[in-house]
Amino acid sequence: MEHKDQWSSKIGFILASAGSAIGLGAIWKLPYVTGTSGGGAFILLFVLFSLLIGLPLLLSEFIIGRSTQKDAISAYKKIAPNTKWHYIGYLGVVTCFILLSFYSVIGGWVIQYVFYGLTGQIGRGDVNYETLFNSSVSDSLLAVGGQAIFLLITIFVVAKGVQSGIEKASKFMMPTLFVLFIILIFRSLTLDNAMEGVSFFLNPDFSKLNSESILFALGQSFFLLSVGVSVMVTYASYLKRNESIIQPAVSIVGMNLFISLFAGLAIFPAVFSLGYEPTAGPGLLFIVLPSVFEQMVFGNLFLLIFLILFLFATLTSAFSLLEIVVAVVTKGKNTRNRNAWIIGILVFLVGIPSALSYGIMADISIFGKSIFDAADYLVSNILLPTGAFLISIFVSYKMKKDVLKSELINKSKFSLLFEVWYYLLRYIIPLVIIIVFLDVINII
Ligand code: PFF
Repeated sequence: MEHKDQWSSKIGFILASAGSAIGLGAIWKLPYVTGTSGGGAFILLFVLFSLLIGLPLLLSEFIIGRSTQKDAISAYKKIAPNTKWHYIGYLGVVTCFILLSFYSVIGGWVIQYVFYGLTGQIGRGDVNYETLFNSSVSDSLLAVGGQAIFLLITIFVVAKGVQSGIEKASKFMMPTLFVLFIILIFRSLTLDNAMEGVSFFLNPDFSKLNSESILFALGQSFFLLSVGVSVMVTYASYLKRNESIIQPAVSIVGMNLFISLFAGLAIFPAVFSLGYEPTAGPGLLFIVLPSVFEQMVFGNLFLLIFLILFLFATLTSAFSLLEIVVAVVTKGKNTRNRNAWIIGILVFLVGIPSALSYGIMADISIFGKSIFDAADYLVSNILLPTGAFLISIFVSYKMKKDVLKSELINKSKFSLLFEVWYYLLRYIIPLVIIIVFLDVINII
């Protein structure tokens, strides 16, 4: 059975997929990982991976979804019946489940900060943001409470269904976020010493890269574009068969790169100007950005608006993570509401240890990492690249070349770009992923 849900317009699809892509990854995670992984060289690699690996994979997931009109597991079954390829879908579902369990922890931090903004506790000029951050994330009640509220909102929207919930929320948020970032960058760049930060962020120093940071850059490009987990298969399955996918894919990658660069340009000049360390880790954004807003007229108002938009960006990604799991379980039947609640509550329970891993469970470590970091490492650096690898193989070896060609471009059109895409998927992408993996586990 095909689903009843459809996007009401193409722009709705673009915004929702961009909403899935743009979230904590571009705004919170990339800046802090860039800070700890050496700056400009890391960003350059990330941009290359996004264009040469992320974009072709995004197109692949769109093709699988739009051509089958099915959820993440049934889609693979439809293309390759009686084979095991649909395990790619299961892998995606499990990955999204784990991802949401720790994503919602950071979502909870954002909720806490929105609350601080609303009650006037931040943006006043006399707050020590390092202390505030540390006390916010280590307080069990605040951490778990924030996570619970974040997940409740996610469940509400996903339970209502894709079209009405996700599409509407995405429509006004993205443009406003862009504008606010531009104001923020302007302020950050006009601080003393700002250029030191720009140079840290944009000047590549390749001696700072190692095999682990190359894997991180690869994982980041998947994480930021939401590829490798069949979320984009699911979203494209709500697209009419005749809608084009190239332009949406290019705009999503473009928007994502812009927001990533914007976030870096807003954060790093301020890091250097205000005397913070670029290697501060997960607190980087939460510590630095409020300080930048304090240097602006109406700073506390702008800070509040920023935090609300940041929360929206984070939520629209969370919607997609829950949506894929709910879609697989619901399969077009009318049990969506119940499934969204059951799955959402399970995600919450599984995520509690991650929420506590900055506080009372900080001492528990898995392979030398905190519970949160271990879950993130597993998803970003192992499961996402594995999913991406399998999808590139599936599309380029299992699907017929002429079918792909007619899915991607009009057959009569000049097809060099198609050939490049196909070649990348068939040879380059799998090879790069394998090499990066082997390099990290020290086999080569
Ligand atoms: N792309 C999202 C972000 O950068 O915040 C995270 C994400 C959402 C990854 C959905 C994967 C996914 F399926």
